[in-house]
This record gives sequence, C-alpha cells and structure tokens, in this order.
Amino acid sequence: MMDRPASFDAHVRFDRVHMAFDGRTVFDSLSCAFPRGRITVVLGGSGSGKSTLLRLIGGLIQPEAGRVEVAGHDVTDPHTSLAEVRSRIGMLFQHGALLDSLSVFDNLALPLREHTDLDRAAIAQAVRAQLDAVGLGNVEGLLPGQLSGGMLRRAALARAIIRSPEILLCDEPFSGLDPASLKRIEILLTRINRQRGITLIVVSHHIASTLRLADQALLLLPGRSVCGPPAALRSSSDPEVADFFDEELDVEALDREERAAT
Ligand SMILES: Nc1ncnc2c1ncn2[C@@H]1O[C@H](COP(=O)(O)OP(=O)(O)OP(=O)(O)O)[C@@H](O)[C@H]1O
Ligand SMILES: [Mg+2]
Repeated sequence: MMDRPASFDAHVRFDRVHMAFDGRTVFDSLSCAFPRGRITVVLGGSGSGKSTLLRLIGGLIQPEAGRVEVAGHDVTDPHTSLAEVRSRIGMLFQHGALLDSLSVFDNLALPLREHTDLDRAAIAQAVRAQLDAVGLGNVEGLLPGQLSGGMLRRAALARAIIRSPEILLCDEPFSGLDPASLKRIEILLTRINRQRGITLIVVSHHIASTLRLADQALLLLPGRSVCGPPAALRSSSDPEVADFFDEELDVEALDREERAAT
C-alpha cells in the first residue's frame, strides 16, 4: 500500500485490486491513487499490467476483487453507469489509431456526432479548433493512411480529448516516434494537463519523458508497486526499482545508438 497525504485529492483510486487472467495473477492487492489535475506515469516491464490498469479504469474489464473508483464512482459496482463514467474519460490507445476509411476530420467528428447534440456547424468548429491545437489544421481532409506516424499520434490524441474528458488515459503515446515527434507529443500532453486541468494517466517506457512529464510515477513490479515523485523513484535505493531504471535507460541508450547509426 502506498502512503497518501490527507490533502490528496484522488481522481482515480485502486483499493486492494486483485486481477487475474485464466488463473494467472496480474495484480495481487494493488492500491494506488492518481491525483486530480496531475500527470501520473505508469512504468513497469512488459506484461507487468500497465495496459490492464488502464482497461480497469475505463471499466473495459472487471477485477476479481477490490474497488476501482473513477471520479467518485466505483466502476466495479454493477449499479454504476459505465457509460456515465466513460463519458468523463478520454483514451489514447497505442494501436487503436483512427478509422482508416474516414478522413481526419470525420474521425474527430464521429464521437461528437454519436455522443452529443451539437449541430453540424458546432461540430465543425470544435473539430477544427482541436486539430489546430495539435498542429494539424491543414490535413483535415486526408485519410489516416496519408499521415506520418507522428501526425497520426497527434490526430489520435486530438480525438481522445474532443469530448473534453476529465481524465485522459494514454497507452505508450511515445512508442515508435522519432525524437522530434516524441517531444511534440510530450509538449501537447503537458499543455492538455496544464491548460485544461485534465488528469493524465500515461503508460510509458520512456524514462527521460517520464522524468520531465510526471508529477507522480507508479512502477509496477512483480507482486507489488512503488509510487512517488519520479526523481525519488529514479534515485531509489530499492534494488528492484534501481534495476528497472538501469535496464530501461540501457535500452534507451541502445535505441539512440541504433538511430544514430542509421
Ligand atoms: N485479455 C487477456 N487475456 C489473457 N491474459 C491477458 C489479457 N490481457 C492481458 N493479459 C495478461 O496479463 C498480463 C499483463 O498484460 P498487460 O497487457 O497489462 O501488460 P503491459 O504491462 O501492458 O505489457 P506491455 O509493456 O508489453 O504492453 C500479461 O501477462 C498478459 O499476457
Ligand atoms: Mg501494454
């Protein structure tokens, strides 16, 4: 269990969550809290349960035991309206990019057409404002297949926040991007958080970004989790935590060398 200061305003909270797939435990008794209006980066090795944690928050899967509270609603309670809770959440999935057959404009307009009463003009205005905000004002008529990887990620981010969520979940928003595109996404995420006050929960393998971006880091380790300010985790004397950071930083250094060589 992590320590929580009394003043801590948790927007999302896990309370002794047990999660298993086919008898294989992912979380034994996970308790952690994600502060309102802040950026939490979720770290952990492959298969440690990072994506599972996001899917639990979105109510896409249900735990065996424990509570997951989102904005005061327990998403594990069958009486909770998941549609209500999901309307407060934006999700940026690593592979759940855009619909290939729709233009960038229509991809962003779709959630507004389906879930709001806005008329055509209001939708067009909202979509254009959102595309401008992520620097994609000039590509609204293109199909996703005509965009670069970095542009696609920005378009997906724009779609994830088009309905003005309170909470934005991002699964590996930096993966597969060149350094300039990565930096752009990082700046956009910071802006989304600082200017709109959206609570961000970001799964990432990228330690350098995490240290720049996160107010709080949550590291998922086998059978336990460690939570705290990212710099404190980075300099932790806990051997498992130190090993995690050393390995991830080695991978990042190798990645940079490979890029430099090509
Ligand atoms: N729908 C599912 N059915 C069965 N097992 C699953 C399912 N989803 C996840 N798992 C298992 O749960 C564990 C955690 O998976 P998860 O996708 O959350 O890991 P992750 O930390 O996101 O990994 P990565 O960094 O590789 O994306 C893994 O062992 C995975 O095989
Ligand atoms: Mg994952």
